[in-house]
Amino acid sequence: MQTERLLPDQMGMARAAILLAGGQVVAIPTETVYGLAGDARNGQAVARIYEAKGRPSFNPLIVHVPDIEAARTIADLTPQGERLAQAFWPGALTLVLPMRSDAGVASLVTAGLSTIAIRVPAHPVAQALLRLTGPLAAPSANQSGRISPTSADHVLDPDGGLDGRISAVLDAGACPVGLESTIVGWPDNRATLLRPGGIPAETIADVLGHPLAPHRGDPVAPLAPGQLTSHYAPNASLRLNATEPRPGETYIAFGAPGPLSLSEAGDPVQAAARLFDTLRRADREGHPIAVAPIPDHGLGAAINDRLRRAAAPRG
Ligand code: TXA
Ligand code: MG
Repeated sequence: MQTERLLPDQMGMARAAILLAGGQVVAIPTETVYGLAGDARNGQAVARIYEAKGRPSFNPLIVHVPDIEAARTIADLTPQGERLAQAFWPGALTLVLPMRSDAGVASLVTAGLSTIAIRVPAHPVAQALLRLTGPLAAPSANQSGRISPTSADHVLDPDGGLDGRISAVLDAGACPVGLESTIVGWPDNRATLLRPGGIPAETIADVLGHPLAPHRGDPVAPLAPGQLTSHYAPNASLRLNATEPRPGETYIAFGAPGPLSLSEAGDPVQAAARLFDTLRRADREGHPIAVAPIPDHGLGAAINDRLRRAAAPRG
């Protein structure tokens, strides 16, 4: 695909909003880094984010909203979260909060977790766009494992960028903060620094009146779904690479029709968009689950990574 470079004028913003409404992905400026945005309520759009980034696994994504009122429709802010939001939003702070049951966000955004990472960006272009589009899921707009982009040129960099992999980039020049948002969560009911970022931990501690608990271990990996006990794993056993079901098994098809087909056409984007919901629906049948083989490349590798974690013996 040809990646459009859009100016953040009225026409460019309208074009970006139309692409986003159609389930396409658009790189957008925020004050921290450029984000690769997609409609957070559209599972296929969210799957396209993962595909464009070449993410090896479904890390949960940050959802961007225009203001605190919009955040309240998606998450339970909690008293401490409310204080931090009042102090730092709009701005470079992401809060990991309990998700509301009526949030309406695609399950792929949270990778099946019951919490959601949410942020109100301060960048005027992001602000204006969010008022045209509604909630946007957006990780940094770079290929997985590469340096985060702080300009539209970085986003389109032939080495590690997304040129030809995304519909458009809204070019608003350089990001003023240039560092990803600080992430705060409450994993053991204690305000915890999950990722240092654009707002210093001390500044956040000043507002709370006590220091943030340090996050033990790797700043990112332990948060990844499958490594948290809170991560959704089916109750039923999971048999992978099953070319057909055995008697008594619930079968999840791929590249073939069926009541629980991940993608009739064998499209990994569609399969990724349907994965968590399909696993939940299969689990509700109350039988052992068998899953068709899925080609282990592109998004298929990410799907298999999630399936292997779901199938791993649990303690
Ligand atoms: O500044 C930023 O935060 C940028 C701009 C675009 O907003 N976004 C960004 O997203 O850095 P990303 O996907 O690169 O980082 C998101 C981080 C990941 O480390 C992920 O594990 C964590 O947020 N995260 C998201 N949801 C989470 C959740 N429910 N629980 C714990 N961690 C979560
Ligand atoms: Mg990143």
